[in-house]
Order: sequence, then C-alpha cells, then structure tokens
Amino acid sequence: MNISTKIAGINFDSCIINASGPNNSTLEELELIGKSESSAIMMKSCTIEPREGNDKPRFARLPFGAIQCMGLPNLGYKKYIEFALKLKKYNKPIIASISGLCANDYVKMVGEFQDSEVDLIEVNLSCPNIYGKPLVGYDIEQTENVLVKISSLGKKPIGLKLPAYLDESLQKQIADLIIKNNISFISTINSIGNCLVIDSEKETPAIKPLRGFGGLCGEYLKPIALGNVRKFYELLDDKVFIFGVGGVKTGEDVFEFLLAGADAIQIATAFEKQGATCFEKIKNELIAIMQKKGYKSVREIKGNLKYL
Ligand code: DHB
Repeated sequence: MNISTKIAGINFDSCIINASGPNNSTLEELELIGKSESSAIMMKSCTIEPREGNDKPRFARLPFGAIQCMGLPNLGYKKYIEFALKLKKYNKPIIASISGLCANDYVKMVGEFQDSEVDLIEVNLSCPNIYGKPLVGYDIEQTENVLVKISSLGKKPIGLKLPAYLDESLQKQIADLIIKNNISFISTINSIGNCLVIDSEKETPAIKPLRGFGGLCGEYLKPIALGNVRKFYELLDDKVFIFGVGGVKTGEDVFEFLLAGADAIQIATAFEKQGATCFEKIKNELIAIMQKKGYKSVREIKGNLKYL
C-alpha cells in the first residue's frame, strides 16, 4: 500500500498534511506537527511584520466546522525562515505560507523564502479577514500583477492558496494565469469569507471582529472544496499539483478529494478540534478504504471519478 505522493518534485511520505491556520504559528506548535503523522510541516500564513491579530473572541467552534476572523496573528516572516532551519531535523517537507498586505510584500517574502530551508512556498491569495483589503484571488488584475512579480524570483516551487470560486469563468481566468506564470501547485479552498454565525440565545454574532463576519471552515465547506478541486483538475490538465482543503475529517473524505483530482490533502479544522493525532487516524482510515477497494497508490485514485 503506497499512500506517498509527490508535489512539484518534492516527496511526501503520505498524502495527508496540516493546512495553514490552526496550531502552526509558534515553534512549539510546529514541532508537534513535525512529530505527528502529518507528512509535511505547513507553517502559519505570515506577514512582513509580526501581528497580534484581531480582538477575541475571534474563533468559534460550530457543530460542523468553525468560524474565524483571526486577522493573521503571526510572528513575522523572519521567524518562519529561522523555524524552517530548526524543523529540518524532522526530515519532512517544510512549506511556507505567505500573505502579503500589498503586492510588494509578496515579492519581498517570496524572494526571502527562496533563499531559505523551506521546500515549497504557498502564496495565500485568499485571507478574508483583513479589514478593508480586497481578497486578491477574486481580482484577476491584482492576481496577475502578483504572479508576474513572484514567478521568477528563484527555483523553489510556488503554489497558490485559492479562495472558493463559485463561478466557472473566474476559475478559467485563474487557471490561465496559473499556467502562464509557471505556478507549480494550488491549495483549494481557503475558508469562505464574509460569513455570519449568530448565537440566538445571546442575540450576538459568534465572534467579535468585523461585527461578526468571518471565514467559515470545516465540514460545511466540503462540497464546495470538492467542486473547486475537480474544476481545477479539469482546467489545469494535470499540469499543476493540487492540494485539496476543506472539511477533511475522515479517510473517506481524503479518498473523495483524491477521486476529484487532488494529489494530497490538507487538514485545518479537524486538526484544531482533535489535535495532532487526527493525522494518524485519518491515514489509517484511508489505508483501510484503499485495501477494501483494491487501490495500491494515490496516483491510481487521483482524478478517477466515475460518471453516472
Ligand atoms: C487568516 C485566515 C485565513 O483564512 C487565511 O487564509 C489566512 C489568515 C487569519 O485570519 O489569520
């Protein structure tokens, strides 16, 4: 049974890793991921300067996921360059996640991570929680401007963390830009921004920042995430590697994302709720499904959705 995978020339012992978001901001948290069955260490989306993030409560668990408006609390990109060096001892791929507040931030951080110990650079075009900042991935002109500037800064593969697209024409335009600018992988989808959860007992929003608007996470997202994985799998013609993200909680979820066309999957909300043991549990569930169905590798499953 082979559940290993390859993303842009980098080997992963399994197709299950943590997503950027929960429990991956400090060195202690990243060490726990290093020791876990996550086959890579994905670091928190970073900015040029350290950020405290938004006022609390800024995260609320929900029956089928969570809503959050964290506001990019992170230690600043320089710390994550230092951490990458310290995390090398775990012998698994290290992935930087960067989130610019303007185009120049992306250029500066991608340039600096190109000279670091990370294996892959995930460029987050989809953080929904910064007040007054448009979501880059929903703006074709801004996306093109960033991609043109970051695509030739070094040899390490670059990927994009994409927002959920609910419109095919936008997906086609983004797919064209991805191919044109030699983007190696995508991670789809991020939490869905601008959502509102109301506590009817208290008659308030579930979280405080932005008058309660925040990014919806977890199981609520799975059909939207699967739709985005499948659509980009079709549009990118197997030329770009795909991380599926959004509501993965069981081995069966992983299997579905692989069928849709993912090469690997990332886990945020289940990791936040269950802790680092979730990776082993989900991995064992995936292996059991593959055994039952007679699949021997991830590559055999990838994209193998059968139509009715
Ligand atoms: C945050 C939320 C996101 O969905 C994201 O992609 C990056 C950062 C946050 O609020 O910290």
